[in-house]
Amino acid sequence: MIEVSMPTNIALIKYMGKKDSIANIPDNSSLSYTLDDLKTTVNLSVIDAEQDQWDSTEDQARFIKHLDFLRQKFNTKKYFKIKSHNNFPSGCGLASSASSFAALTECFLKIINRDISVEEKSALSRHGSGSSCRSFYGPFALWSGEKVESIALPYKKFIHHVIVVSSDKKLISSSQAHSLVKTSLLYADRKIRAEKRLAELLESFKKQDWQKSYEIVWQEFQDMMALFETSEKPFSYLKLSSYFVLDALRDYWHVHGDGPLVTMDAGPNVHLLFREDQASMANMLSSAFREKFTVI
Ligand code: DP6
Repeated sequence: MIEVSMPTNIALIKYMGKKDSIANIPDNSSLSYTLDDLKTTVNLSVIDAEQDQWDSTEDQARFIKHLDFLRQKFNTKKYFKIKSHNNFPSGCGLASSASSFAALTECFLKIINRDISVEEKSALSRHGSGSSCRSFYGPFALWSGEKVESIALPYKKFIHHVIVVSSDKKLISSSQAHSLVKTSLLYADRKIRAEKRLAELLESFKKQDWQKSYEIVWQEFQDMMALFETSEKPFSYLKLSSYFVLDALRDYWHVHGDGPLVTMDAGPNVHLLFREDQASMANMLSSAFREKFTVI
């Protein structure tokens, strides 16, 4: 029996739109921060059977499809009993596909005794779920085409909180969103905007211009939301409470001239990233939001 845990990650410049949806090759580069405290643990044991056995509530079909891909790649007929759990509350609306597929890939390689490079592991995991390829790197991961790398920035660690406004299962998966956004008229220039924003964000991080970084990260998730809202059949992940939280954060920045980086994924919950020296601000803001929402 082998057990492996891998972290999830939050994108500051988003992976949205694929060049190749089998190998999960993105149309534009993305930049993420690895969330070392939010992990999925996958546990595999070899069984004497002709198919995998499942012991968790994750998206089984996708997990098994990825195991089939790995079995074919490494030419093995081993089948497994699979267990998987997250250390963050289930039903909190947090995307866990990045940590799940990273952990499944690592665990599979361990159980079949294959010691390959981190680049190769990350590329294999990318086939299961694109964003998982960034979870092998940290604290920041830069993903472009088939290449992923850790990049050094002046910030070693952020304090991360999520304001959970809803834990409902989403109606449109992020995999579906990747193809729906292509029907938006805004998609034609999406790559240009994302690459420009990436260069500007790296620059503002290097200069430690926190306000500029906040503005770019905000513009970026709003750009992704605009793609959703302007696709042929418009859709959105935001709830009324998401707008309430975003509005309160914008006011906070306006009044204090300071605040956290704010971003959202394909979901209604709001992610906050504070610098380490903003710990008291992080506590204060999180307690204020806790009066109405779950904050993790
Ligand atoms: C909005 O990695 O979940 O979180 O490759 O189809 O599994 P698949 O998609 P996924 O997409 C993540 C989209 C995002 C932005 C991001 O993480 O960069």
